[in-house]
Amino acid sequence: MKKITVNLKERSYPIYTGARLAGLGSELAKFKFSRRVLVVTNTTVKKLYFPVLRAGLEKAGFSVSVSAIADGERYKTLQTVNALYNECLRAGLDRRSPVIALGGGVVGDIAGFVAATYMRGLPFVQVPTTLLAMVDSSVGGKTGVDLPGGKNRSFDIRRYHLYQNDPMQDVCDASY
Ligand SMILES: NC(=O)c1ccc[n+]([C@@H]2O[C@H](COP(=O)([O-])OP(=O)(O)OC[C@H]3O[C@@H](n4cnc5c(N)ncnc54)[C@H](O)[C@@H]3O)[C@@H](O)[C@H]2O)c1
Repeated sequence: MKKITVNLKERSYPIYTGARLAGLGSELAKFKFSRRVLVVTNTTVKKLYFPVLRAGLEKAGFSVSVSAIADGERYKTLQTVNALYNECLRAGLDRRSPVIALGGGVVGDIAGFVAATYMRGLPFVQVPTTLLAMVDSSVGGKTGVDLPGGKNRSFDIRRYHLYQNDPMQDVCDASY
């Protein structure tokens, strides 16, 4: 994978990019993560990409749990976050268990918020599947959910290590 450093002096952080979906498992196995992972996706994207992602993760020795939330901005709520905390518990995640966001900006924002706040923060991997998520929401370290009073009102900004997969080629393969 290619490593790009976002240079913010003492708050600098690396972004790793370049792995395709099937190879993400073997790339993640190089880091000191525990072997339990939770993939957060939505019902639309799960059908398109989760089987390939899961196969690669399992081949690399990861035990994979998945939670597919309903599709749409209106589900970017604390209620969904709460359901995902329960999934984290059910999956037996520990502090070195990566949460993998597979989807667009909505999935990335919710999954990132859960990763930032569960057990004081878990490793977070973004697998962005929309152009907006690839070039914007997956690279800045911002995550969050909407509150009834407004969009993105509850959020976290965390410059921890952030791993961005690069599924552009996979997205193109599935689309054309
Ligand atoms: N955190 C940040 O810095 C940041 C920055 C910009 C935007 N955002 C957030 O991003 C969200 C918008 O993200 P978005 O535009 O990706 O919308 P989205 O996540 O809702 O995705 C749009 C639609 O495309 C579908 N989809 C996703 N990948 C697909 C694929 N490869 N093939 C077919 N369908 C696919 C989704 O299921 C959804 O129906 C907003 O909630 C916004 O607040 C966050």
